[in-house]
Amino acid sequence: MRASNLLRSVLYVPGDNERAMNKAPGLSVDAIIYDLEDGVAPASKQAARANVCAAVAGIDRGQRVTAIRINDLASNEGADDLQAALIAGPDALVLPKVQTVQDIEQLGARIDAFGDRKSGCDVLIWAMIETPLAILNIKEITARSHMKGSRPGSHLGALLMGTNDLAKHTGVAPDMMSSWLMDCVLAAKAYGLPVIDGVYNDYSDQQGFVAACEQGRDMGFDGKTLIHPAQIASANQAFAPSQKQLQEACEVVALFEQSGHEHMNVLELDGRMVERLHYLMAKKTIKTADLIKEQTE
Ligand code: COA
Ligand code: MG
Repeated sequence: MRASNLLRSVLYVPGDNERAMNKAPGLSVDAIIYDLEDGVAPASKQAARANVCAAVAGIDRGQRVTAIRINDLASNEGADDLQAALIAGPDALVLPKVQTVQDIEQLGARIDAFGDRKSGCDVLIWAMIETPLAILNIKEITARSHMKGSRPGSHLGALLMGTNDLAKHTGVAPDMMSSWLMDCVLAAKAYGLPVIDGVYNDYSDQQGFVAACEQGRDMGFDGKTLIHPAQIASANQAFAPSQKQLQEACEVVALFEQSGHEHMNVLELDGRMVERLHYLMAKKTIKTADLIKEQTE
């Protein structure tokens, strides 16, 4: 996985749902999470593990990011999931029910131990933030990602919000969680980590879903976790630069690159102030739009 990978749409695919498993590779999502945890019934865990790991090992991924959500490492299934998933070699392992930084370090150490035998393993950890303790510990959890290299056992590569579990653990309705979500967004941004919003359960409510995506985007999320193919197009659109944003970005770039403006830090555009930081932001917007274009061609 490259740092430039888009994560606008991140689809959960239950590992015991054969039809969904077959459909997933043909869908226009930025990332797929093959699920062995809560999307899979207890009686189907073993079969799901075999299906998912065979599918991931055999996939020609192209630009798409592929992740496997394993069961909690303390559960009966977790250790077997981890072993099989490491052999299959996804881009990321999704760790559910994270509570403390030690959970991340423990999985990181297991990845490192596997890597030592297989001459290095660069699989990332995507931490599910879905318990009250994870919200309370978010600064410490994200700070660890910053220490990659100097501190073995990290590998943290993204935060994924688990709003259904948070609601279950706290009794707080998802609509009332915005301060917790914003704390996670801020912590992720402080350490350069992507942060992905929680799911929207009512997959037949398109209007509500579009509003949820737009709210997530305005809160600073990089994308949304999805449960159904009907949600993909809206997420891809909401988390991409709009035509208007792209046009404005091109104007800002053209202005700063105009001859004579090389050493200017503040300029005027249509009666507004634009600073060099807007030029850098505009270049980033154009780069994202180019990446999306490249990916959809
Ligand atoms: N990934 C890939 N394909 C999916 C999918 C998913 N998450 N959800 C549905 N599909 C496919 C179906 O297989 C079907 O395709 P097909 O006819 O070619 O087989 C098509 O999309 C339409 O599906 P539909 O009939 O509307 O839904 P469903 O009744 O098959 O499934 C759910 C509804 C909610 C059971 C299913 O979407 C699902 O399991 N989603 C993921 C839930 C999950 O992972 N939860 C845990 C994380 S929060
Ligand atoms: Mg969960």
